[in-house]
Amino acid sequence: MLVLGIESSCDETGLALYDTASGLLAHELYSQVSLHADYGGVVPELASRDHVRKALPLIYKVCEKAGITLTQIQGIAYTKGPGLLGALLVGATLAKTLAMVLDIPVLGVHHMEGHLLAPMLEDVTPQFPFVALLVSGGHTQLVDVKNVGGYVLLGESLDDAAGEAFDKTAKLLGLGLPGGPLLSKLAEKGDPARYRFPRPMTDRPGLDFSFSGLKTFVLNTWLDSDKSEQTKADIAKAFEMAVVDVLMIKCKRALLQTGYKTLVLAGGVSANQTLRAQMKALATKLHTSVFYPRGEFCTDNGAMIAYAGARRLLKGERDPDLQIDVKTRWPLTELV
Ligand code: KG4
Ligand code: ZN
Repeated sequence: MLVLGIESSCDETGLALYDTASGLLAHELYSQVSLHADYGGVVPELASRDHVRKALPLIYKVCEKAGITLTQIQGIAYTKGPGLLGALLVGATLAKTLAMVLDIPVLGVHHMEGHLLAPMLEDVTPQFPFVALLVSGGHTQLVDVKNVGGYVLLGESLDDAAGEAFDKTAKLLGLGLPGGPLLSKLAEKGDPARYRFPRPMTDRPGLDFSFSGLKTFVLNTWLDSDKSEQTKADIAKAFEMAVVDVLMIKCKRALLQTGYKTLVLAGGVSANQTLRAQMKALATKLHTSVFYPRGEFCTDNGAMIAYAGARRLLKGERDPDLQIDVKTRWPLTELV
C-alpha cells in the first residue's frame, strides 16, 4: 500500500511517501524556524499560514522524487493531534480533500505514535515489547509499548517537557532558535567539572520527571556569574548533563521495572548526541538494546506519520468520514 504522510502539527511541514512493500520512497521537510525566530517562539497563526503555502508544493515534490503520480497513492495519513489547532487543520483539510478527490482511505495519526514508531524506518528495527522514552518539545514520557496501540504510560513530566526545558534555557542564555540544538552545540565547549546542577525527582522512587526547577537554577547561576562566553558554555554543559542524567536514571528504572530488554528513544531531544552516547553505554551495561531514529527523523517529519498511518491503514483502519476533526490535546494512552 502506497501511503502519503502529512505532518503539520507545529512549525514543520513534512511530507513523505511510504510503501508497505518497499519502504520509504521519498520525504521532504520545510522548517519554519527562521519565520518564528524574531518572535522567540512559534507564532501559531504564522505557522498555519506557512503550512498552507508549503504543503501542496511539497506533495508534488515527493511524488516527483518517488517517480509516481498522485493517482498512484493508495492511502493518506495526516497528523490529527496533538499540536497547534490551525496548523493541524491545514494538514487535515489537505488530507481529506485529496482523499475525497482520489477516492482513497484517509486516517488521522497521533503525532507521538509517529515519533514512537520512527525507529521502525531504519534497517534494524526494535521488537515489541519495549520501553520508549519520548522526549520532544511538548512531551517527556516513558511508555511501556506492548505493540502498535498498546501503550501504558509509566511516567511523564509534571511540568516542562525536556525539549521545552532545552528551549527555555537556551532563551535565557541568549541563544537563538532552535534552542535545543544550539544549547547542545555550545555545551560541547563547556567544562563538565565547573558546575553541578540538581537531578530533579531522582531522589525518590517513580518514573515522573520535573524540569522547570532546572531552568530557575540556570537563571540564578547565570545572573551570579561573570557572564563570559566560557561561563555560558559551562552552564550549557551542566544543564545538558543534568537532563541527560535524569533521563538515564528513569530509563534504567523503567527497564528494571518492566524487565524489557529493548529501549527506544524518540522525539526531538533524542537527536541529542550526549543523550544517545550515554544511553548506548547504559544499554550495554544492562545487556539491553537501544534504538533511535536517524537524526532527521527524531524531530518532526512526514516519514513517521506516513509509516504509522500505513501500519494502521493496512489493517483496515480509516477515518469514518470526511469531517475535519483534529485534537489539540490527545493522550497517547487513548489509542488502541
Ligand atoms: O519532536 P520535535 O521536533 O517536536 C515536538 O513534537 O515537540 O521536538 C522538538 C524539540 C525542541 O524542543 C528542540 O529544542 C529539541 O526537540 N531538540 C533538541 C535537539 N534537537 C532538537 N534538544 C536537545 N538536543 C538536540 N540536539
Ligand atoms: Zn514532534
